[in-house]
Amino acid sequence: MKAVFFNEHGPIDVLHYGDVPEPERPPGWVKLKVSACALNFLDVFTRRGMPGIRIPLPGITGGDCVGEIVEADRDLGGWALGDRCVVNPAFIDDQSGHFEMMGETRAGALAEYCVCRASQLIRIPDPVSDTQAVAIPVAYATAYRMLVTRGNVRPGESVLVLGASGGVGTATVLLAKQLGAVITAAAGSQEKCERLIALGADAAYDYTAEAIDKYARRVTGSLFRGGGFDVVVNFTGGDSWAPSLRAVKRGGRLLTCGATAGHAPPTDIRFIFMAEMDIKGSTGFTAPEIEACLALIADGRLDPVIDRVLPLDQAIEGIRLLEERKVFGKVVIEPGNSR
Ligand SMILES: NC(=O)c1ccc[n+]([C@@H]2O[C@H](COP(=O)([O-])OP(=O)(O)OC[C@H]3O[C@@H](n4cnc5c(N)ncnc54)[C@H](OP(=O)(O)O)[C@@H]3O)[C@@H](O)[C@H]2O)c1
Repeated sequence: MKAVFFNEHGPIDVLHYGDVPEPERPPGWVKLKVSACALNFLDVFTRRGMPGIRIPLPGITGGDCVGEIVEADRDLGGWALGDRCVVNPAFIDDQSGHFEMMGETRAGALAEYCVCRASQLIRIPDPVSDTQAVAIPVAYATAYRMLVTRGNVRPGESVLVLGASGGVGTATVLLAKQLGAVITAAAGSQEKCERLIALGADAAYDYTAEAIDKYARRVTGSLFRGGGFDVVVNFTGGDSWAPSLRAVKRGGRLLTCGATAGHAPPTDIRFIFMAEMDIKGSTGFTAPEIEACLALIADGRLDPVIDRVLPLDQAIEGIRLLEERKVFGKVVIEPGNSR
């Protein structure tokens, strides 16, 4: 089958598009013909190699998968061959705590076929397209968990979103809007800011022109006089971490689910205790959180932001655009359209 794969960790040129053997299906698993796979920054981290995480080589990334069941055990528990489904890429064994992630510790869906446990399949409501559904698990369900399950964001709260133009970022803006929050979106260019306003952000600012803490002080006032945001969402980390602590209101929350620009930044403990803020980590998603996002799409209340749809033989170009921060929302790959 055709796939995008790497034989060693490294920069983007370790990626190849070509032929690899079709994955074997263990008992209890299904084989899917992949109709759509969405790209995530996780694909970049996995290809580069992450400390403490062993990736079987050749590596095939792609945690977000919509496909059609083409091979399965006889008893499929309510599913049938030919059914369309989206995969919950995260698997946790409740007994042992063993964790596997499709597109990371298990081969993913940047390929014509992939395999997963039957228990990882989720039904897609009829009105939801493959492109919409495939955007959901890693970006939207993560944002949902961070804002709703972990963050308890409430109507009228002010929410500052860093990295707002990416996959999780645009998901965070759309879902926070659904929750009735007042959103300020931060992005790395004026053009991205304009698109974020068009998406529904109440305000947007280019953080390359003004530091986060200075912006927060100018717009909301001094932290000692009630200034700051109720909620700051920061999955960028790196140099943005310490200034974003200075943008949280007294008693506010800082929500994080990632560290794109660096996971061990300098911090400033004074702002954590002085503001009595809660720093809440959030990771991954559950099947009900994926289903909640699918239901929002089916109800017409959510439409994931898709930057572009590419065939599999152009997936490496899609990954390059993601890595160079030239993407607004999600890039979706359709292996069915590949040559
Ligand atoms: N814990 C979990 O379960 C989980 C799940 C999903 C994602 N994540 C994490 O969330 C983060 C975002 O993921 P994503 O898939 O949404 O990524 P993405 O689509 O590439 O978006 C990342 C955004 O962050 C901004 N950014 C700031 N500094 C950056 C840097 N040094 N390199 C690249 N982008 C930078 C970029 O916007 P500007 O150019 O406008 O700054 C970019 O649009 C990643 O760290 C990812 O690992 C975690």
